[in-house]
Amino acid sequence: MVATPRYDAIGVGYSATRREDPDLRARLHAALGDARTVVNVGAGTGSYEPTDRHVIAIEPSDTMSAQRGSRRVPAIRASADALPLRDKSIDAAMAVLTIHHWDEGQERGVRELCRVARDRVVILAFDPEVVAEMWLVQDYMPEVADLDRRTAPSLETLGGWLEGEVSIESIPVSRDTPDWTLMSFWAHPERVLDPEARNGTSGFARLSDDTVQRVVTKVAADLASGEWDTRHGHLRDQTEYDGGLRLITAQFATPVTSE
Ligand SMILES: C[S@@+](CC[C@H](N)C(=O)[O-])C[C@H]1O[C@@H](n2cnc3c(N)ncnc32)[C@H](O)[C@@H]1O
Repeated sequence: MVATPRYDAIGVGYSATRREDPDLRARLHAALGDARTVVNVGAGTGSYEPTDRHVIAIEPSDTMSAQRGSRRVPAIRASADALPLRDKSIDAAMAVLTIHHWDEGQERGVRELCRVARDRVVILAFDPEVVAEMWLVQDYMPEVADLDRRTAPSLETLGGWLEGEVSIESIPVSRDTPDWTLMSFWAHPERVLDPEARNGTSGFARLSDDTVQRVVTKVAADLASGEWDTRHGHLRDQTEYDGGLRLITAQFATPVTSE
């Protein structure tokens, strides 16, 4: 049984600022290939979940599940490290921006994805070392880099848990993405001043109130003085940025057999 899902506390209002990015959706769906049955693990509010395939959603948090809306399949309350599915019972398993929340169940969870999937596993994760280089993390909230290094597996570690032929692709974050992850703040320092935008990111939501207040006060001051634009203003002219997002695909030798 799942103990006190973190997102019951930090997932309130998630769907307001974390809307699906159409380009990212297209990339994820291409990575799923011709899989006709898909399990979405850490499914959250349903972003990036295919609607043209048979989908099973796994989500431990009731708060997240309640935001899925009536168009989405209901999510099964379960955890990645004990998927309620038989071995090789589904074409593809996907996990989007969720593994860093699996705590001590990360390796088991990734191995579970491989156990239940016949054809492939598709993961969207991030490289904690690249995230650490973003101005917001490096200059204002190094606590997030520390947290990421403790909670997000390196790509090498993740690759070691996977089976089959593993490929890794960098996914840039577009300036206008509607999915306001912490990485999406790269061109929008003003978002730091918006509590709804902040709370939609686990980076901010997992910091203490004092730390968040320190960050907000400093970013506000640097915006008002022009300091932020002096140091990072060139970013306002960029259309996309490598914030560390990585699409990881593990392709198994066994072909899709579902009919
Ligand atoms: C940042 S949200 C991502 C949600 C969704 N995949 C998306 O892209 O919008 C992380 C999700 O992982 C879920 N999660 C946390 N621990 C989990 C676990 N042990 N097993 C499965 N999902 C988990 C959370 O409840 C939350 O819904």
